[in-house]
Amino acid sequence: MPPGSESERPGEPPGRIYSKSSKGFPRPQTLTRGPAGPRWAPRLAAAGKQSPGGEARKRRGHEEARPGRGEASLARRAGSVYPRRSSAGDRRPRRGRKGAGVSGWAETLAERIEKRTARPAVVGLGYVGLPLLAELARAGFRPIGVDVDAGKVAALREGRSYILDVPAEAIAPAVGEGRITVGTDFDLLRDADTIDICVPTPLRKTKDPDVSYILAATEEIARRLRPGQLVILESTTYPGTTDELLLPKLAAGGLTVGEEFFLAFSPERVDPGNPRFVTRNIPKVVGGVTPACTRLACQLYGTTVERVVPVSTTRVAEMVKLLENTFRSVNIALVNELALLCDRMDLNVWEVIEAAATKPFGFMPFFPGPGLGGHCIPIDPFYLSWKARQTGFETRLIELAGQINGSMPEHVLDMVRRALNRQSKAVRGSRILVLGVAYKADIDDLRESPALDILGMLEDEGARVCYHDPFVSGLELRDRKWASVRLDAATLREQDLVVITTGHSGVDYRLVMREAAAIVDTRNALKEVREPGHEAKIFRL
Ligand SMILES: NC(=O)c1ccc[n+]([C@@H]2O[C@H](COP(=O)([O-])OP(=O)(O)OC[C@H]3O[C@@H](n4cnc5c(N)ncnc54)[C@H](O)[C@@H]3O)[C@@H](O)[C@H]2O)c1
Repeated sequence: MPPGSESERPGEPPGRIYSKSSKGFPRPQTLTRGPAGPRWAPRLAAAGKQSPGGEARKRRGHEEARPGRGEASLARRAGSVYPRRSSAGDRRPRRGRKGAGVSGWAETLAERIEKRTARPAVVGLGYVGLPLLAELARAGFRPIGVDVDAGKVAALREGRSYILDVPAEAIAPAVGEGRITVGTDFDLLRDADTIDICVPTPLRKTKDPDVSYILAATEEIARRLRPGQLVILESTTYPGTTDELLLPKLAAGGLTVGEEFFLAFSPERVDPGNPRFVTRNIPKVVGGVTPACTRLACQLYGTTVERVVPVSTTRVAEMVKLLENTFRSVNIALVNELALLCDRMDLNVWEVIEAAATKPFGFMPFFPGPGLGGHCIPIDPFYLSWKARQTGFETRLIELAGQINGSMPEHVLDMVRRALNRQSKAVRGSRILVLGVAYKADIDDLRESPALDILGMLEDEGARVCYHDPFVSGLELRDRKWASVRLDAATLREQDLVVITTGHSGVDYRLVMREAAAIVDTRNALKEVREPGHEAKIFRL
């Protein structure tokens, strides 16, 4: 039963609560800081293989698209390299006609994508959607962006970007020249040939998946769906979402999937703040409802990313993303547990991990920290465990990983107590500076950040808390507005303790080392700093 749907039983037991959010701190809001040839070689055989998903579709009455003339021509092109730029300019290609045959719409859309005359749309212009919009413009399309947030739309219309990884220059000229259209009105989608859904997938208070944003966006699309459109869900979600939630809504108007409209799932893997891997060079996994859906989605992404990886079904593609993020969650839990053990054994866990990482095979380093943050790793495993419970399966390792990761802010608090105790001080009344509130280094994203939990817990213990973060000049937490303090010698000398919760690279850690009375370093940020005589005041995770 889909979470967020009206038919869900209210009495259903909630998922086990293991994230730091369980402490009930209100969600923070950032107040400030708006910073200022595809090689698509899809394995068609794999994409076209009959799969369990295919069987299920047949049972529900959705037939696989039968190969016709257009399918054959698509197949011929499958191994080819699509040109990045169209030589056809703005020439309008002929449109398929309703009833024009199984492949008419697919063939027409394929041609339009190839010639860049197709208009792609992105629904939800956040960390995932905005980079995609910029890439589509860069690939030579005239993309359309729709978001319910009028503030974001206004910023984009003024040529401003609110996502650090998307420079204004990637947006402003295209908006100015009318090559990118943005708005809050879903009627813009009437002009779209392809529609990528990039809306949030948070958790409800019960820790069950909240797919209400996906449902809301899909309903808007379904109301306007016309033959020849391709819809792709990119939001992270549990296996079955595309088939069970999107397909019935989109097919309700009478159009046939795989023939008159096309539907696929393709997870986004963007890593904010990572300059090495960006939308363009992160391979894109694609699973369509039918082979035609897969091929068209692969073709679209082939215009913007270097490698596209087709898989047999939407469910496989959905599961791929959850595996990736659960893999991170479980491995981080392992090193967090090791960090707790090393703390007891008076061993430096960072040294242990770095030495282990010299093994050239069979080991991949993960690092401990004050807890999980961001919109993915703390949330996505719940999507998987929720779906597992629907099948009567308990994901024990995943739940345990969540418990260990969720306990890390408590451990940091314990380290704070010990560090102050060594100075014969209590937490109550002590001045504590939390250094870094973003959930990871060199980004401004506060979502699920463990630093916010730590701020809240320190306040609860009676500490006089402030924070510094070069990327987040202000935030709202517990109905209070907080402003980032200056990080200078005077501020540092006023503190009884500094807790490094995010390892931003631009911070002057030498100054921190020199001036702070005591430091709890949860990120090994002081690793490179050598200040003789100061080592004794550092408490490393
Ligand atoms: N942030 C990441 O690093 C990341 C990485 C990979 C995958 N994802 C996944 O991608 C999805 C989007 O995440 P994000 O970080 O971009 O979220 P976000 O909150 O940054 O952006 C989502 C955008 O969707 C808009 N929106 C909400 N409801 C809408 C609706 N009904 N119609 C149109 N717009 C709507 C919001 O206003 C917002 O601008 C999530 O499922 C997330 O799990 C995120």
